[in-house]
Amino acid sequence: MPSILARGATLLRWLRGRVGRALTPARWHELRRLEPHARYYGSHRGTPVDRVYITSFLDQWQNDVRGTVLEVASDAYTRRFGDGRVERCEVVSLAPDPGVTIAGDLTSPTLLEPAAFDCIILTQTLQFIYDTRAVLATCHAALKPGGVLLVTVPCISQSEAVDPLDNFWRYTSLSLHRLLTERFPAERVTVQSYGNVLTAVSLLHGIAAEELTPEELAHFDRDYEVIVAGRAVKEG
Ligand SMILES: C[S@@+](CC[C@H](N)C(=O)[O-])C[C@H]1O[C@@H](n2cnc3c(N)ncnc32)[C@H](O)[C@@H]1O
Repeated sequence: MPSILARGATLLRWLRGRVGRALTPARWHELRRLEPHARYYGSHRGTPVDRVYITSFLDQWQNDVRGTVLEVASDAYTRRFGDGRVERCEVVSLAPDPGVTIAGDLTSPTLLEPAAFDCIILTQTLQFIYDTRAVLATCHAALKPGGVLLVTVPCISQSEAVDPLDNFWRYTSLSLHRLLTERFPAERVTVQSYGNVLTAVSLLHGIAAEELTPEELAHFDRDYEVIVAGRAVKEG
């Protein structure tokens, strides 16, 4: 049940939004268009805004990237953040692409060896797999006791499918927290989110991070979660 203070703050924000809309006509400039400035998250213009948040999250938890690590699609983040702590890195993907050492479906409980990994880096993958819970169960079982899952998911994003993958889901900090605490001890789960209205619009329009200031990128407005990131530590 939300407290009176929380309800008051929500009402105030709603009122401010109404008054703001009534007094200030929107100046659309070149945003009044049906085609985005650039598709594919702006990756042809520069760094997609969401990648700044993902790397910032992994940078914060880089000491978790150690021992035996599993990453999806490539070992890029393991190499970038492992800093001499990594003994072995496995790369998992649905298809047996170059660099992939484990090809198969993460929803399958037998894909990964049980209790084999110190760290699993699961960035921008859950939205492409219908059965989120099955993937989290596979990851949980594949972690050693005390092993860490580092996961990022989109909240506000375009729904482009990455051929041949379908794009199923968006998550809020609330839903990611709920999903992680179904598997991991609640006191060992932390979820944080990143974004604001400007970076949300930038991502949708494919405006790259290099076109924004560090302050604009860093500003957080919880009403506009662009990326949601979770760290979950296995019991034991
Ligand atoms: C867009 S990539 C994201 C991974 C990348 N590390 C990143 O940060 O962008 C999505 C990856 O998820 C993999 N994938 C999708 N469905 C899968 C499934 N059911 N089992 C295993 N991997 C899957 C795809 O093969 C692809 O490599």
